[in-house]
Amino acid sequence: MNSRDRFLAALHRLPHGRPPVWIMRQAGRYLPEYRKLKAQSDFVTMVRTPDLAVEVTLQPLRRFAQLDAAILFSDILVIPEALGIGYRFRDEGGIAMEKSLQTENDLALLQPAGAIERLDYVYKALRLLRKELGTNKALLGFAGSPWTLACYLVEGGGSEEFPKMKSLVKTNPKFVHQILNVLTQTVAGYLKEQLLAGADAIQIFDSWAGVLEGKDYEEFSLRYIREVIALLPPQAPIILYAKGKSADAAALAKTGVPCLGVDWTMPISKVRALVDRPICIQGNLNPEFIIGKPDVAIQETQKILNDNAGDLGHIFNLGHGITPDAQIDTLAAVLDTVVHSGV
Ligand code: CP3
Repeated sequence: MNSRDRFLAALHRLPHGRPPVWIMRQAGRYLPEYRKLKAQSDFVTMVRTPDLAVEVTLQPLRRFAQLDAAILFSDILVIPEALGIGYRFRDEGGIAMEKSLQTENDLALLQPAGAIERLDYVYKALRLLRKELGTNKALLGFAGSPWTLACYLVEGGGSEEFPKMKSLVKTNPKFVHQILNVLTQTVAGYLKEQLLAGADAIQIFDSWAGVLEGKDYEEFSLRYIREVIALLPPQAPIILYAKGKSADAAALAKTGVPCLGVDWTMPISKVRALVDRPICIQGNLNPEFIIGKPDVAIQETQKILNDNAGDLGHIFNLGHGITPDAQIDTLAAVLDTVVHSGV
């Protein structure tokens, strides 16, 4: 069975030989070949130039034959940019948005008309990748969730806690809903185009799900994720990743997605036990183990495989993005462990 078939089989819990594997944020600063390209052009240019995005997407696959899927090199912040608010990386690290949304008057800064078309360079990169990969490897597209994107827009950049957004949710929820409505339409249209351009599956990143608790998570995030899903074709191949929300797996699964991406804070078997239907789970090695020596990372990988206990619906991955200080030999050892495990 080739990589693409294996990936799609696991997503739909059909028989296959071993868990497929791809690594969240495959490209990046841990690879010397990435750093070399990055020295010649800035990040945003690389994202916006299909040939460069294709090259960076393929880099990890060239180095690690074990990978079953490629994830498009891009960023979740291309949507705010297409809506009229660009982003850049601060010299001291982290992300800054060109402008922030502070009052209802700022809604006019968002220009949804034509936004999905302005992301054409992404669809172009996906079409090129589909051609490059043929039917051998799976190709993943992605988008940020409306909530996670709204966090960057309100805060004016990245943050640990997103205090401005937290306060806005309490002081002017109507305004937050207005922002979320615009984002929902754009995210859905964008993901639809990615599927048409050849993505085998799409991941929705709700990276800042953890900023919201209880009822607020339903009201400001999950509800809009469901709306995005409703705007996509029925049974779309979606991986829903909500960082810090494994305890809410039942509600996440109720969205109807075939697969939940999970962080490392709860074993896969426990996540599964919370869900009232068979489901594919993607995860969930702590990326910190890739910084250390191979032997510990191999043990932890084996623990995850054992915990999954041969369930067909498992896509092996990290629980979050790989970090710049990741060790290449440790990653290779993890990938080998997965590839040599049999279901
Ligand atoms: O393998 C890939 O290249 C996948 C593409 C990918 C990137 N970003 C490329 C990237 C994906 C799937 C993302 C998603 C993304 N971007 C998310 C959701 C996933 C997650 O991490 O929770 C978020 C929140 C972002 C926003 C973002 N972009 C952050 C927080 C950062 C790190 C900023 C910093 O200063 O550390 C980025 C930068 C980024 N996105 C890099 C890459 C390869 C590193 C850029 C560089 O410095 O070379």
